[in-house]
Amino acid sequence: MTITCIGHGYVGLVTACVFADLGNKVWVVGHTKEKIDRLKNGDPIIYEPGLKELLEKNLKAKRLHFTLEYETAVKESEIVFIAVGTPPKPSGEADLSAVFTVADSLVPHLKKGVTVVSCKSTVPVGTNKKILERIENKLKSGVEVAVASCPEFLREGTAISDTLNADRVVIGSDSRLAIDKLLELHAPLASKKVVTDLASAELIKYTSNAILATKISFANLIAFFCEKTGANVETVIDAVGADHRIGKLFLNAGVGYGGACFPKDVKALTSIGEGLGVDVTLLKSVDEINKEAKDIFFKKIVSAKTGKNIGVWGLSFKPNTDDVREAPSLYVIRNLLAEGYVIKAYDPVAMDNVKKILGDKISYVSDPYEAVHDVDALCIFTEWNEFKQADLRKVKTLMKTPVVFDGRNIYPPNTMKDFGFTYYSVGRKKT
Ligand code: UDX
Repeated sequence: MTITCIGHGYVGLVTACVFADLGNKVWVVGHTKEKIDRLKNGDPIIYEPGLKELLEKNLKAKRLHFTLEYETAVKESEIVFIAVGTPPKPSGEADLSAVFTVADSLVPHLKKGVTVVSCKSTVPVGTNKKILERIENKLKSGVEVAVASCPEFLREGTAISDTLNADRVVIGSDSRLAIDKLLELHAPLASKKVVTDLASAELIKYTSNAILATKISFANLIAFFCEKTGANVETVIDAVGADHRIGKLFLNAGVGYGGACFPKDVKALTSIGEGLGVDVTLLKSVDEINKEAKDIFFKKIVSAKTGKNIGVWGLSFKPNTDDVREAPSLYVIRNLLAEGYVIKAYDPVAMDNVKKILGDKISYVSDPYEAVHDVDALCIFTEWNEFKQADLRKVKTLMKTPVVFDGRNIYPPNTMKDFGFTYYSVGRKKT
């Protein structure tokens, strides 16, 4: 099959590489020449494990093509995926301007016959219907489109295997032709296929992210209880999660969730609900608890009254990505800077992205041990593997005072005590 992905972020590029690797001819359309040139040369732009290899392999096999021109790509495609961003407006509502611009731009280039236009971007209920209306108004005779919603559930850091081994592929459409084409494209994946209407498909995506975010906020709420009572959040969650109706996944308490999806999608679903007259108190609480998780962590640092030189380990919103969008590290670091703290940070891949945001307000070092040299405390924001078995003896020797604030609970408190650290984590007793 020949397909097009419009957009080359995590969703567009991973989708393109995976379907090219399965043997399809895939076009990727972008709008920045510099980025398209980098992609043509095998540079995925984003850091995602395995993506560079997949990109290079499929470029070489001439199954993957990058262009700035809609025409070249769209006119020979059976399916066109829209995979552009839907960032939040100040009100929390999703900004759909990029999605609609893409829909308008592809119309003049559609071939005769039927092209499937499928939206992978996360969009409010009713958006795909609007896409169809916009396109249908401009169609030349003999040209038809069938619109489908095919939301994406990949996680950064595991995006390729998430796409290849998705728990489910959701296809929402009123068109049998669109459903059949998308089923054909996804046939090599063993994933459960859910075929439904447009509105349900759109809502499935928001519901998934909102429930996962709710689980995390719930765990963080229980961590607040634990910190007040001396209970241990990990023991609580471990026992609660043993109930298979609840499960343990996405119940890790910490310094809050970040990334391009949970914060944005919880706010967007809240805004959709408000527009529909649905009571969205629960969703608002999920968002508020997430903010509180970051605030409580910040206050913990300030109230410990350590000196103001702080080393930081981990800046990305989670491990195995260089993405710092809505990263809890940025929120806490900004607050610390406002209080006069001096920050020296290390992250294996995300420092360049943080430099674009914080510039020289903090300093950056290329080695985790350099980050703790002569500091009054260490803050951990991301559970990168390399921190889990770091040489803690060396860390303690290098630090001016051995105080650790761990926002991801990566060490057992008693081990930290035995090493001689004053150790603050989340939802567990200070040791
Ligand atoms: C998420 C969804 O998991 C994915 O299905 C969707 O397509 C996009 O949004 P992603 O943002 O890549 O994926 O990361 P995810 O692994 O879900 O983590 C999101 C945030 O939650 C991270 O900041 C992570 O640290 C935090 N988190 C996750 C917790 O704080 N506790 C947990 O138990 C799990």
